[in-house]
Amino acid sequence: MQTATGTSYAKIILMGEHAVVYGQPAIALPVPSVRLTATLAPAVSGQVIKSSFYHGALAEATPSFAGIAQLIEALLAHFEASTVPFTLSITSMLPAERGMGSSAACSVAIIRAFYAAFAAPLTQTTLLDWASVSEKAIHGNPSGLDAATVSANRPQWFVRGEQLQPIAFPSRGVLVIADTGIKGQTGQAVAAVATLLQQKPAQYGPLIEQIGAATRSAATALGEDDLPMLGRQMTLDQQALAQLGVSSPQLDALIAVANAHGALGAKLTGSGQGGCMIALASNPTAASTLTATLTAAGATATWQYDFAQKENPA
Ligand code: MEV
Repeated sequence: MQTATGTSYAKIILMGEHAVVYGQPAIALPVPSVRLTATLAPAVSGQVIKSSFYHGALAEATPSFAGIAQLIEALLAHFEASTVPFTLSITSMLPAERGMGSSAACSVAIIRAFYAAFAAPLTQTTLLDWASVSEKAIHGNPSGLDAATVSANRPQWFVRGEQLQPIAFPSRGVLVIADTGIKGQTGQAVAAVATLLQQKPAQYGPLIEQIGAATRSAATALGEDDLPMLGRQMTLDQQALAQLGVSSPQLDALIAVANAHGALGAKLTGSGQGGCMIALASNPTAASTLTATLTAAGATATWQYDFAQKENPA
C-alpha cells in the first residue's frame, strides 16, 4: 500500500428522483464546487478512520458508518490486506443525509483511493460495482444513480441498469441549492414510496409516469435553452413528489419562497422528507437574490450551480 487520494463530488438530481427506482429516467449533475476527498495511508498499527461521519477504529464503526465500513472491509479483502494497518482520512464539503449523494461520494472517493494505493487500474464499471456494496447496505434498493453521478464529470441522463448518457445542457441559467438543515433518510423515503405503490397502485402508479414525462420534457427544454419550460417541469415534478409523500413542510416552505421571489421553478432534490431543494434562476443576479431570500427564510446552507460552467475539471 502506498499513500493515495481519491476524489468525488456532490450530486444533485435535477429531475426524476424516486421514479428512477421504477425505470423512469432521471437527470443528475455532479457539483464540482462541493468536493469529497479520501486519503489512504499506511500506518504503523491500527486501522483507523478519520472523518466527520465517523472517527475511530474500523472494527468499531457505528451503525451509521456500517455500510461504508463493509465496503472498506471488502476492499481490504480484495487487495489481500485485511490485517494491514492504515489511516483513512475523509474530508468532505458535503452535508450528510441531505440528498446530495454524500454516502455515494464517500464510497466512490474511498474506492478510488484504494485502487490508487494498490496501484490497480479501475474502470467505471468496477467502480460502480464496488459502490453498490455500500449503497445497498445503506439504502436498501438504490437505483445506482447517486454513485454514477458523483463519479461523473458532466450532467447525466440516467436510466436504471443502462449506461449513463451525458446530456445537453443550456448555456445559461443557475440552480440555487438550499439545505433545510433537516436530515433525509433515503432508505426510508424509498421504502415509503414502495409501500404506497404496493397498497394503491392505481392512485400512485400514474405519479411515477408523470415524473417520467416531466423528466423527458425537461431534457428537451435543456437542449433547447428553454429555461421557463424547464422551470415548469421542475414544478410539475415537485407536485408529483409531494403527492408521493416525500416532500416536507420545510421543503414546501423554501420552495414557496423561491417561487414567490422569481424562481422559474423549484423542487426538492434527492430522496426528500428533509434534505435540500433546488430553484432555477434565469441569471446570476436572480440567483443571488434567491440565495439571500432562501437564507433569510431559514436555509442552513446554499450552493449554486451555473449551467454556463457545467464541465468539471477532473
Ligand atoms: C436518492 O438520491 C435518489 C432516489 O431516487 C433513490 C435512488 O435513486 O436510489 C430517491
